[in-house]
Amino acid sequence: MERSSLLTVVLVWAFLWISAIHADSKDDEKLLCTCENGKGTCMNGTCKGHICFYSWVHGHEERGCFSEVIYKEQCYSKFERLFMHCCRENLCNAFTTPPSNINGEPTPTPPELNRPELWITLSLLLLITTASMCGLVLFLRFRRAHGRNDVHGDHDVTILKVPDGDDPTYGDIFDEFCTSGSGTGLPYLVQRTMARQISLVQCVGKGRYGEVWRGTWMGESVAVKIFSSRDEQSWFRETEIYNTVQLRHDNILGFIASDMTSKNSSTQLWLVTHFHELGSLYDFLQYSSLEPESCLRMCLSVACGLVHLHTEIVSSQEKPAIAHRDLKSRNILVKRNGQCCIADLGLAVIHSQSHDYLDVGNNPRVGTKRYMAPEVLDETIRMDVFESYKQTDIWALGLVFWEISRRTIVNGIVEEYCPPFFDMVPLDPSFEEMKKVVCVDQQKPSLHNRLHSHPILSAIAKIMKECWYQSPPARLTALRVRKTLSKLDHDSDFSIEKLKRDI
Ligand code: ADE
Repeated sequence: MERSSLLTVVLVWAFLWISAIHADSKDDEKLLCTCENGKGTCMNGTCKGHICFYSWVHGHEERGCFSEVIYKEQCYSKFERLFMHCCRENLCNAFTTPPSNINGEPTPTPPELNRPELWITLSLLLLITTASMCGLVLFLRFRRAHGRNDVHGDHDVTILKVPDGDDPTYGDIFDEFCTSGSGTGLPYLVQRTMARQISLVQCVGKGRYGEVWRGTWMGESVAVKIFSSRDEQSWFRETEIYNTVQLRHDNILGFIASDMTSKNSSTQLWLVTHFHELGSLYDFLQYSSLEPESCLRMCLSVACGLVHLHTEIVSSQEKPAIAHRDLKSRNILVKRNGQCCIADLGLAVIHSQSHDYLDVGNNPRVGTKRYMAPEVLDETIRMDVFESYKQTDIWALGLVFWEISRRTIVNGIVEEYCPPFFDMVPLDPSFEEMKKVVCVDQQKPSLHNRLHSHPILSAIAKIMKECWYQSPPARLTALRVRKTLSKLDHDSDFSIEKLKRDI
């Protein structure tokens, strides 16, 4: 290589090296960004962060700061009707506006680069040493390796995908992210924006946990659980699980968004999910009775949801195993198709054998006393062993089946709704009262004789009994319950078909 080329290469590398060091050293300094008053760390219209952002989602504008940790996910979000601009200069997001074609075709314009000194210097160097092809090649390689949208390099990031017609549904939005994103849910900024576009319509539930509202987002019903401040750990846990674990399943309540806002100096915690107008299984059983086939369908769907939770998946769609720890009819929702879905992951524990961890969280909340397994009540449960938590879920699953089966008509007989152990403990039983019944007296909920005269219900009754063994390892697994119920379902379909043929 000739001397001038070598010199150029050295100069180019030195320049880029110094630029990189300069950019890195900036990482430690915080920028002043424009933001909206009252949100997050925003004070008097400014916040401090590592990246300033301007976002435009469905006409909703926002400016603020991102920390280093979350900028990547946010600044690279690709989303219908999202215009996202991230920059690294003091107050650089103050006057950003969406491009004029935000409602037109997607812009083919690449992101603008805002480091003129780099380009001027490089142009000069390239002019002086036109013979220096080596330097140029090295430079181009360097640029390609670091990408055009690299925020670390002080470049502005502009990602724009613009609409083509009607308002999207949240299903469309998920599809977009499930195929192009990490697959675990919407980016935090999109969740926040969606949550803030929800109108609360009607309170559909209230309890120690907080409130559940029906809300509307873009004309669609959504459920909004507003956590009481006492139960913030449940919000954190559920938000963490839905955002880190691939949990899309027909029998697990569908997550839409989580949001934390501050209102009159108190924190509001929202969890936005699919809305099921039939409400919880507990509510549904108060006013509905079932045919044995519907009972089977419901029980099978709960078992399917629990199998999905309990199972670790180790493929590309990987998912840790999850134990629920507060399974009960109030935490199960009834869908229009007669299936159920499991809700409330606020107390869940996570386990991965392949990654060798057990994460029990740090929620001071405990499960519902009425549904507690004997080993929880007598405190002999092995809290360091994941299997133990699954076994307590199975105890509770048997109790849920019992609640459903009481409301199932056999030989024209159906019982009124009653919670498990209704005849053995008072309303809102104490820990000691439950312990006496479940551990000392080793009582089980009684099963009506009528159940034994129907093939589906006698099989479900047998499953219940096998969920209630005093010894946790003796209980059925969720997978075994699901398999037995699936077989029952196929067999009953088969006998109905046969009956039709015979007629
Ligand atoms: N009650 C609690 N969660 C609900 C939901 N997602 N839909 C309807 N009612 C509910």
